[in-house]
Amino acid sequence: MAAARTDNQVTGIGLLGLGIVGSAVARAVIERHRTEDSSASLKVVAAVVRNTSRPRAVDIDSSIVSTDPKSVIANPEVGIVVELMGGEEPAFDYITTALKAGKHVVTANKEVMCKRGSELLATAAENNVKLFYEASVGGGIPIIGPLMNDLTANRIQSVRAIINGTTNFILTKMANEGADFNDVLSEAQELGYAESDPSADVDGYDALYKISVLARLAYHTEVPVDVIYREGIREVHAKDFRYAKELGFTIKLLAVAQASNETGLLARVHPALISFDVPMASVNGVLNAVEVEGDMVGPLWFQGPGAGPEPTASAVMGDVLRIVKGAPSNGSGTATTQPFEIASMSDHFCQYYIRITVSDQAGVLANVARVLGDADISINSVLQKDTDIENGHADLVIMTHPAREANMQKAVSSINELDSVLRLDNLLRVENYAE
Ligand code: HSE
Repeated sequence: MAAARTDNQVTGIGLLGLGIVGSAVARAVIERHRTEDSSASLKVVAAVVRNTSRPRAVDIDSSIVSTDPKSVIANPEVGIVVELMGGEEPAFDYITTALKAGKHVVTANKEVMCKRGSELLATAAENNVKLFYEASVGGGIPIIGPLMNDLTANRIQSVRAIINGTTNFILTKMANEGADFNDVLSEAQELGYAESDPSADVDGYDALYKISVLARLAYHTEVPVDVIYREGIREVHAKDFRYAKELGFTIKLLAVAQASNETGLLARVHPALISFDVPMASVNGVLNAVEVEGDMVGPLWFQGPGAGPEPTASAVMGDVLRIVKGAPSNGSGTATTQPFEIASMSDHFCQYYIRITVSDQAGVLANVARVLGDADISINSVLQKDTDIENGHADLVIMTHPAREANMQKAVSSINELDSVLRLDNLLRVENYAE
C-alpha cells in the first residue's frame, strides 16, 4: 500500500505540471484542505514545471518547485502523484514509475489513458495502488465514476457525446452567425479557446481519445485508436448549417460508442446532423454533454464544463479525496457479459445529407437519383439551392433514408464521376434517435 500519508497524517501531493490546471489543483489544496481545518488533510509537497522562473497562478513555495519529475515521484513525502502534463510520453513513463514506486496516481491525461490505459491500470493493480482519471474525459463532468461504479448493473447500449469544447464553440458560432470555419477558428484562437495548432481538436483526435476511454469502461473491450472512425470539422461549411436548418437539424461533432450482440461495437467521431428536437442539439459553446443509455436505467444525461482550470481541478480533487478516504479499487466498468466484436464503419447505418454542386440542366437530378438507387439508397428529400444563373450552377441537397455506409461510399464515387456534377461538396451523417 502506498505511503499516502506522512507521519502527521497529511497526504503529500506531487504535481507533475503547474500550468493553469495544476495551479487550480494547488489552490484547491491550499484553500480547502489545510491541515488544521479539513477532514482530508492534503499538502502540495513537490511540483514539476518546465521553467521555474515563469510566474504562477498560485502562491507556492518556490523551494518545492523543480524541473525533475523523477525526483518528485521518488520524494518519500509524496503519496499521490497528480499528472497534468498530457500526451503519451513521457507521461506513460512517469505514471508507470510512480505506480511501481507504490504511489497512487491521479491523471487528467486522455491520450495516455486511451493509448496505454490498460497497461497502466494493470500496473496499478499489481502494485496495489490506485490510478484514477475522472478529469481525462469531460473536464468537470463526472462520467468515469458513474460508468465505473453507479452503472455497473447495466448493459450499456450507447454512449453519445459532445466531448470537445473547442469544436463545439466553433460549430455553435458557425450555426449562430453564419460564419465560415476558418474565420471562427481564428477568433477562437485569439480568445484562447483553440490552440495555435488546432489539429488535436478540429481533426477529432481529442474526442477520439475520450470516446475510447469511455468505450473501454462501458464495454470492457479495448477500443484502440485505429479501430475508431474519425473525421474532423474542417469540411463543415456555413452553407451546411443553412441547409441543415431548413431540414430541421444543426451540426455537432459527435463521439459515439454503440454496441449490441447483433452489430458488435462501433466507435466513431464525426460531424453529425442532429435534429433540433433532441437535447444534444442545444448543447452550445464550450459545454460538453454525454448521453449514456443503459438497459436498466434508460437514457442518462451528463452536461457541464468540459475543460477549464476549476472544473478540471474539481474532477482531479474528487479523485484525490477518494484515494485519501480509502476508495476501493479502480472498479471495472459496466455489466457486459462478454467482449463485443469490433464492428466496421462500413456497416454503419444512418440517414445521410449530401451537398453537391451541379450544372443546372435537365436530367442531373435523375442521374444522381439513379446512382443512389443503384446503391440501394432511397431519397427522403431534395432541395435545389443557391442557383447561379450566370454560371449555370446550383447546389443540390439530398437527404436520404437510412442506408449502409459502404453503399453510400460506393454511391459517392459514382456521383463524383457524373458529367453534370461539378463536385460532391459534403457528405454528413445524421444521428438518428429512437422516436
Ligand atoms: N481541448 C479540449 C477541448 C479540452 O476543447 O475540449 C481538453 O480535453
